[in-house]
Amino acid sequence: MTRRRGDAEKNDQVVSLFTLKMFFTLRPLRLRVKPSFGLCNCKPTQKELYFTLGYNLQPFVLIDKYYVGNQESKKILLAHSLQVAKLAVSVATHVEQTEAVDIEFVEQAALLHDIGMLYTDAPKLACFGDKPYICHGIIGAELLREEGLPRHALVCERHIGVGLSVADIKQQELPLPHRDMSPQNLEEKIIAYADLFYSKTVPGKRTVEKVRSSLARFDSKKVDIFNRWHQKFQP
Ligand SMILES: [Fe+2]
Repeated sequence: MTRRRGDAEKNDQVVSLFTLKMFFTLRPLRLRVKPSFGLCNCKPTQKELYFTLGYNLQPFVLIDKYYVGNQESKKILLAHSLQVAKLAVSVATHVEQTEAVDIEFVEQAALLHDIGMLYTDAPKLACFGDKPYICHGIIGAELLREEGLPRHALVCERHIGVGLSVADIKQQELPLPHRDMSPQNLEEKIIAYADLFYSKTVPGKRTVEKVRSSLARFDSKKVDIFNRWHQKFQP
């Protein structure tokens, strides 16, 4: 039987749509494996990352969507976010032994927590926006709210240091809305904690002492918060 070319194309489209639909339908049923990025010493391709994080594709799709025109910045963002996500998931896995924690959410939100940096003025991160870098949290939050991810959005705006109180914002005259931007729940605290150990410009993991000294420059109370987290989160 000879099929017309138009029919063949239409069938191909139907097959593609069917595959896509099945992927999303079956996604919740797919085997959940503990993410094992092993990323610090290797540079996996994006395809490999998608495979490793098969059930957790959405963060990469969103990052691709916004960073499509700035591959350099995307590379910096991904390297940092994957390090933070790896540590956050390992902390969450440890904490889960004694307390309920949404590990999948921790991983997704950790991957997205800095998505707003693209629109800031941070040439070292290949970002050439017009907003001060400190605004990357609220910009990311706005993006994720528009994407229908209000819970992830809160992680964006509550992850700076150990969090920013209204008093911090006022005293330091930060260009941020006067609302409490401190991590409130376990997942938000784990991601903020993990983020403290990784810089986007200096490779490697910071030591605990280095984290303490960088927080002490602002306020000794910040170090106290970190110490409480460290006590609870370290394996
Ligand atoms: Fe970060």
